[in-house]
Amino acid sequence: MQSEVAMKVKLSANENFYGSSPKVKEAIRAHIGSESVYPDHAQQELKQKIAAKWGVDSSNIMLGVGCVGLIDSIINYLTKPDEEILSFERSFIAYEMFSKLHNRNYHLAKLIDYREALDNLLPLINEKTKLIFIANPNNPTGTIITHEEVEEFLKKIPKEIFVVLDEAYFEYVSDESFPRSIELLARYKNVIILRGFSKIYGLAGMRIGYGIANTETISFMESIRVPFNINTFASIAANAAIEDSAFVTDCHNKNAIEREFLYHEISKLGFSVLKSQGNFLYAYFNDDSRKDEVHKHLENDGLMVCNMKVFGQDKSLRITVADRATNVRLIESLTNIGS
Ligand SMILES: Cc1ncc(COP(=O)(O)O)c(C=O)c1O
Repeated sequence: MQSEVAMKVKLSANENFYGSSPKVKEAIRAHIGSESVYPDHAQQELKQKIAAKWGVDSSNIMLGVGCVGLIDSIINYLTKPDEEILSFERSFIAYEMFSKLHNRNYHLAKLIDYREALDNLLPLINEKTKLIFIANPNNPTGTIITHEEVEEFLKKIPKEIFVVLDEAYFEYVSDESFPRSIELLARYKNVIILRGFSKIYGLAGMRIGYGIANTETISFMESIRVPFNINTFASIAANAAIEDSAFVTDCHNKNAIEREFLYHEISKLGFSVLKSQGNFLYAYFNDDSRKDEVHKHLENDGLMVCNMKVFGQDKSLRITVADRATNVRLIESLTNIGS
């Protein structure tokens, strides 16, 4: 029983396969005992570190209980019940989940060739549209949209519509055409950037993410947020993690090599898989029964990849990029079932 459990490897949630920085663990250990005291409400130290990293002011930063917490608050506080929210089909499920939770109307644009085609959002925009979510890189497809594409889109839409650029996987991107979003923020007051600590920093269990936006939006969001929303250890972990840029670079480099390796090996076997800029790959199938068969086969081999059916998305699997030994194990398992 024990060896069966040990054989299982989770490849379904796009977590950092290399864990978190040793500096995070040290910092947490050093602060055992501080759990009995309320955390800092303002979190100015962490906001300043984030702001300095991106060349903005700390008044441009808000912190949340993961990017997901910020997505919830953005929908709740920046839109009213009769206003509309847009995003894409086959994108991050939280946009839809929280729109429904807050009883907001929600419309999805179609992807083209598995990429977010921003022009497909335009016919969905009307006077009630208040908020647009763009995951970049997109989860689950791993595709990106470029700086030029985003800027062209921002030029075309009314300035009253907030555009959330959700860059949770930003640090994994290698493609130089990826948006220089901070630059866009200076020109477009309706842009809100989301980044976080769950992915490359390996702090998914800590639940901490941040938003970067113009001061007016941030001060409004800060004025209504839950007091002490960032727990003490999430703050300690993030404060330590952000200073270990060597860990981030190392994870970026390892992931880029393994992502390429896995993409080529899976493609060689005849499976349809997309090139990705995240720490995951998207495999797509002609029919659901074949996809379920492949999913089951991998599961039987202890490789727990994400069947996108759990998010209401058909004919697709999402696979976290792991280390070489695990990736080889995955290739062997796929070789055994064949495409
Ligand atoms: C596009 C995107 N945004 C945000 C998140 C969640 O981030 P967090 O863990 O910071 O809530 C995910 C997680 O899978 C994601 O794919």
